Amino acid sequence: MLTNIKFIGHSCFLINGNILIDPFIYSNPTAQVIPEELKKVKDILLTHAHADHLGDAIEIAKKGKAKITAIFELANYCASKGLITQGCNIGGKVDFDWGYAHWLQAQHSSSLPDGSYGGVAASILLNIDGKKILHLGDTGLHSDMKMIGDFYQPEIVLIPIGGFYTMGINEAVEAIKWLKPKIVIPMHYDTFSNIQTDVNQFQYMINNSTEAKCIVLKPSRDITL
Ligand code: NI
Ligand code: MN
Repeated sequence: MLTNIKFIGHSCFLINGNILIDPFIYSNPTAQVIPEELKKVKDILLTHAHADHLGDAIEIAKKGKAKITAIFELANYCASKGLITQGCNIGGKVDFDWGYAHWLQAQHSSSLPDGSYGGVAASILLNIDGKKILHLGDTGLHSDMKMIGDFYQPEIVLIPIGGFYTMGINEAVEAIKWLKPKIVIPMHYDTFSNIQTDVNQFQYMINNSTEAKCIVLKPSRDITL
């Protein structure tokens, strides 16, 4: 089964036109979306509560009919805004009509817009009709990635490379050696001045020192895999 992956920008991806991850859109100068596109979203998945990930989730969910799935504390926050939510936690599997997703450990913090605790930060492994896509969220390099590679066997990995808040390119190459996917798509770089990096260098390192192939998507571009 083919899966369409559209890079909206930063860490935001639209999958198959109806699954939206980390929708930081309106305040992101690199992101352009057609409002009609967002009305088709059925599920919004959030890795954590930081503003560049929670983003416009609440507004988008209010306008359309999307359900928000996130770590328990973040889901409760969204529910307090009157939205349909489901709150899960690390290690949990959540069923959807398109397949299922596991919320997995990331090494990062997570706070709500008022600064209060947003639960833990997560990576999300989507299984869409058997195709496994891992959105790492914001994370540093951590050795549980070996377990995730061995046990969950992601085929496509969406990986932060911008440094400062997350892994940089050297850590991300090591992560890919542990996660062992076929395809790598970089994210969370060049949006702000403190996360600028050399994506071409990352692509070269992935293609020459791992088994994976790196596909660089510019914001608003998509690929069907
Ligand atoms: Ni963050
Ligand atoms: Mn971030």
